[in-house]
Amino acid sequence: MSTHNVWTHKGTFLLAAVGSAVGLGNLWRFPYLTGENGGGAFILIYALTIFAVGIPILIAEIMLGRNSRRSPIMGMRFLTRTHKTSRGWETIGWLGAASAFIILSFYSVIAGWALHYTGLMLTGSLDGADAETVAASFDALLASPPLLTLYHSLFIGASALIVGLGIHRGIENGLRVLMPALFVILMVVLVYSAAIGDLAAAATFLFTFNVADLSLEGWLQAMGQSFFTLSLGMGAIMAYGAYMSSDASLTRTAFAIAVVDTAVAMIAGLAIFALVFGAGLDPGEGPGLMFVTLPLAFAEMPAGALLGGIFFILVLGAAISSSISLIEPVAAFLVERFDLERPQAVSAMVIASWALGLLTVFSFNLMAEETLFHTLFGRSAFGLLELLTNIFMPLGGMLIALFAGWALTHGEVMKEMRTNETWFRVWRFLVRFIAPAAVAFVFLRTIPQVEGYLLPAIGAVVIVGAFAAGRTFLAERQGS
Ligand code: PFF
Repeated sequence: MSTHNVWTHKGTFLLAAVGSAVGLGNLWRFPYLTGENGGGAFILIYALTIFAVGIPILIAEIMLGRNSRRSPIMGMRFLTRTHKTSRGWETIGWLGAASAFIILSFYSVIAGWALHYTGLMLTGSLDGADAETVAASFDALLASPPLLTLYHSLFIGASALIVGLGIHRGIENGLRVLMPALFVILMVVLVYSAAIGDLAAAATFLFTFNVADLSLEGWLQAMGQSFFTLSLGMGAIMAYGAYMSSDASLTRTAFAIAVVDTAVAMIAGLAIFALVFGAGLDPGEGPGLMFVTLPLAFAEMPAGALLGGIFFILVLGAAISSSISLIEPVAAFLVERFDLERPQAVSAMVIASWALGLLTVFSFNLMAEETLFHTLFGRSAFGLLELLTNIFMPLGGMLIALFAGWALTHGEVMKEMRTNETWFRVWRFLVRFIAPAAVAFVFLRTIPQVEGYLLPAIGAVVIVGAFAAGRTFLAERQGS
C-alpha cells in the first residue's frame, strides 16, 4: 500500500527538508568541530563536500522518495520491483530506519540538555557565574540520571506528539510556525552578538583558509559532518520526498536546502564565536562549547540571561524540527506495512527509541566508568551509537547514490529532474563515481576508531551480509 499523501503546498517540502537539515548539527556540532579543527580550512572542505557530494546525493534521495511515493523501506522494495533489480537494494531502507532509530535516541538526550539550559538561562541561575560554577553546573546535569531522563522524555514526547498528529496537522502546521520564528531568533542572536562580541575575530577565524592546518582526521570529520547536517543517507529526506509535489523542481529545491543549511551553520558559527572571542574564551572546547563556554559568555554579558534563553529556545526549535524527520520514516513504514494507526506507529517507534536513549543517559554517569561495556566495545554506549550512525549514514548515502546512478534509467531521471542533458551528465557522474569514492574516503576515518571486540563483530556482520546479498543475487539471476 502506498501512502500517497502530498504536502499541502508546492513549497512545503522545502520547509520540511530545511527543518530536518537545520538542527543540533548546525548549532552545536558544526561550531565545535570547526573550533577543534582550527576554523577556515575545515569549513572549506565541509563546503566543498556539501556541494560536490551532498547536493547530488540529496537530489538522488529526494528522487527515490518522490518516484516511489512510499516510506523508505516499502519505497525501495517497490523500486527494486519496478526496476527489476536485486532486492538487496532494500538495504537502503533498512539501514535508514536503523540509523533514524539510533540517532533519535541520542539526539533527544542532547536536545534535552538544551531544555535544561533554557530554564537555567531564563531563571537567571547562571547570572554572573564564574568558569568553575558554569562547568560544575554542566557536570552536575550529566551526573544526574533522573534529570537527564526527564528532559529526554519531554523532548522525545513533544516530537512524538507533532508526528502523531499527522503530516498536515502536525508536521506542516508545526513547521509553518517554527521555521520563521527560528529565522527571526537567529537574526536577533547574530545582531546582538555582533554588537557585544568580537565579530571580526569570529570572521577571521571562520574564513581564513589555510588548508595546511587541517589534519586528515579534520578532513574526514568535515566530510562526515556534511552528511549529518544535510540529514543524508537516512531515509528522512526520502520519506519527506514521498510527499513532495510532482511540480516542484528537484534540483532547485536541493540547492536551496543546502544553501540555507550552510548559511545557518555559518551564521550560528559567527554568532557563537563572536561571543566566545568577545569574552576571551577558548574556541576549541569540543562538545562543551555550547553547554559550558557559551553559557559562561552569557553569564558575563549584559542581558545575557535573556539572550541565552532565546538562544537555547532556538536550539530546541531547530532540534525538534529535525527529530520529527527521524520519526516519520519509521512511523510511515509501520503504517504502510502493518496497517497501524499513525499514533500507534509513532508510539511504537518513539518508545523503543526512548528506551535505547537510556543507554546514552547512563553513558554520562552510571556507565561512565570502566564497565563491561567499555571492555567489550572500547567506548561508552553513547560512543558506540554515534559510531554506528557514522557508519550507517555514509553507507546509506553511498548506496542511494549508486542505486540512483546505476539502476534508474535515463528516462526516469529526466522525468524527475527535468533538466538539460549537461546537468544530467554532471549529476550522474557525481553520483556514480565521485560520491561513492568520497564516502569510501570517509570510512577511512571510521576504521581506526573501531577497536576491541568491535572489529571482529562488524567484520562478521559485513561478511554475513555480503554472503546473504550474494546468494539473493545469484538466486535471482537463476530465477530470471
Ligand atoms: N540534520 C540534522 C542536524 O544537522 O542536526 C540531524 C539529522 C536529522 C540527521 C535527521 C539525520 C536525519 F535524518
